[in-house]
Amino acid sequence: MKTHVLRIWCVLVSIIQLNAAEDFQWTKNNPGSFYHGTFPTGFLWGVGSSAYQTEGAWDKDGKGPSIWDAFTHKKGKVFRNETGDSACDGYYKVKADIQLLKELKVNHYLFSISWPRIMPTGIKEQLNEKGIQFYNDTINSLLENNITPIVSLYHWDLPQVLQEKYGGWQNISMINYFNDYANLCFEKFGDRVKHWITFSNPWAVAEKGYETGEHAPGLKLGGCGAYKAAHHIIKTHAKVWHSYNNTWRSEQQGMVGISLTSSWGEPVDPHSQTDRDAAERYIQFHLGWFANPIYRGDYPEVMKNYIGRKSAQQGLGTSRLPTFSVQEKTYIKGTSDFLGIGHFTTHYVIQKSFPFLQVSSYHSDQDSAELVDPKWAAAGPSWLYSVPWGFRRLLNFIKTQYGNPLIYVTENGVSEKVQRAQLCDEWRIEYLKGYINEILKALNDGVNVKGYTAWSLLDKFEWNRGFSERFGFYHVDFKNKNKPRYPKASVDYYKNIISANGFPNPREVENWRKEAMDTCSATHQLLATDSLLTRMEMLTEIVLPTALTLCILTSIVLLIFYLRSHH
Ligand SMILES: *[C@@H]1O[C@H](CO)[C@@H](O)[C@H](O)[C@H]1NC(C)=O
Ligand SMILES: *[C@@H]1O[C@H](CO)[C@@H](O)[C@H](O)[C@H]1NC(C)=O
Ligand SMILES: *[C@@H]1O[C@H](CO)[C@@H](O)[C@H](O)[C@H]1NC(C)=O
Ligand SMILES: *[C@@H]1O[C@H](CO)[C@@H](O)[C@H](O)[C@H]1NC(C)=O
Repeated sequence: MKTHVLRIWCVLVSIIQLNAAEDFQWTKNNPGSFYHGTFPTGFLWGVGSSAYQTEGAWDKDGKGPSIWDAFTHKKGKVFRNETGDSACDGYYKVKADIQLLKELKVNHYLFSISWPRIMPTGIKEQLNEKGIQFYNDTINSLLENNITPIVSLYHWDLPQVLQEKYGGWQNISMINYFNDYANLCFEKFGDRVKHWITFSNPWAVAEKGYETGEHAPGLKLGGCGAYKAAHHIIKTHAKVWHSYNNTWRSEQQGMVGISLTSSWGEPVDPHSQTDRDAAERYIQFHLGWFANPIYRGDYPEVMKNYIGRKSAQQGLGTSRLPTFSVQEKTYIKGTSDFLGIGHFTTHYVIQKSFPFLQVSSYHSDQDSAELVDPKWAAAGPSWLYSVPWGFRRLLNFIKTQYGNPLIYVTENGVSEKVQRAQLCDEWRIEYLKGYINEILKALNDGVNVKGYTAWSLLDKFEWNRGFSERFGFYHVDFKNKNKPRYPKASVDYYKNIISANGFPNPREVENWRKEAMDTCSATHQLLATDSLLTRMEMLTEIVLPTALTLCILTSIVLLIFYLRSHH
């Protein structure tokens, strides 16, 4: 009798929980006008970057190769065959770049550690002291300048040896290797680093690395590889969180979270159930894929249903989506002290049935298609539309689905595609203003956001797009071997948002834009002069020596003629 009551009780509780978690209202929070106001005191403002995109020095001071070194060194993988071999030379410019952070007046800097720089072959038996020293010094310099380091342990550069030996994230053995690496970082840096991110955008690692092959390691394991990679990444994340909780937390008192990047999916018609379902699938297949196991103990129901059904149609005995055991679910649930959120853009989503296919794919599993509104501002690249209101909806969705977790925005920003230097980046100012304002609105909705990280400090290597997209507050002249940095107008604007802690009143906010646009024209001239100087440098370095050599050669020839004719 007792067990019966208990069972009924459990069923009731889970129904109530299910309902509580699914009451996201698709038609609420209509895009409104600009909201003037400030953020709560103590709100953290920062800027981010990642190791492979900025450091360069890919084979210096004992660093081992990563899958991105191997990938970019193959021809035909990256725009113009560009590589991150030297990128922004960030490895040699830590002090100078910290000055830029000071200029921006940020509270925190989010960066990633390159695993093969401190473990060249990925294993703890072989450490690279110079690599450890490098990150130790970086952390110390940041703290000396009152900048809080937020450190990501994985922004995509897996040691190449682990890829070759085990198949990278396809292999369950990554869990222990990564856990060793994470523990080393906690041991060496955890006395000073209090914000840890296990993985930055694992969605891209799985989908672009193992489904489409657009990213390293470039595998095209349609409909299977990405699910398996993600499965191992989620288990790894949980293991690292438990390591921290059991071994380091009591002494170091820090936080360990994960950073998930997701666009918002808006139903084309929010009053149509079909469209709402399609949009929900879109978000569950992106954000929920990782967030649901961590916050609710398992993959989203729609993923399990859709992938399971399609696998069965294909005659497979089991679903292509791996399953967690009961113990694993309990072990994984609740393993994030905060949720990092990366967000760039929004799509409209509609239902689209894919015909029965022998070839399976992550994309056709979703039965949905994405659209964009031609009216949306396309700042630079074709994939990034500025749709600020989508951010507030995404944040509210997180609040309802995952029990209002503590959120840090870990990536948000916009790129430009122009090749020539464009320092007056008014579209970036508009983008930041709009997106940051939606966070402010979300705070008023009760969403628990404690910090914002603009993406990114510098123009940098943009993965398979090479250097063709620029996300930086600072323009980097990659053609110049000194890789000089120049502030764009958005530096001034962001600085003002930070010092006012928001948007105090219309007059001030409008002034910021005007001032920023004025100063950038002046910087433009500086840049023009500098590139002229670079060309003159080239003149002295290449042209002059060549001319000199020619002169000497001619003189010798003439001398020989002279001597011959005098014989
Ligand atoms: C990249 O490398 C491939 C293979 O060698 C070559 O065909 C292609 O032209 C290269 N692209 C550029 C822009 O150099
Ligand atoms: C890292 O820096 C801290 C603080 O200055 C110092 O105590 C520690 O010895 C350094 N560790 C390494 C490996 O250099
Ligand atoms: C994982 O690595 C082990 C050791 O190299 C290997 O035996 C196994 O086949 C790998 N598994 C996969 C799925 O690649
Ligand atoms: C985290 O560590 C604390 C202290 O050791 C422990 O009481 C708690 O059960 C741990 N949490 C989990 C979920 O294991």
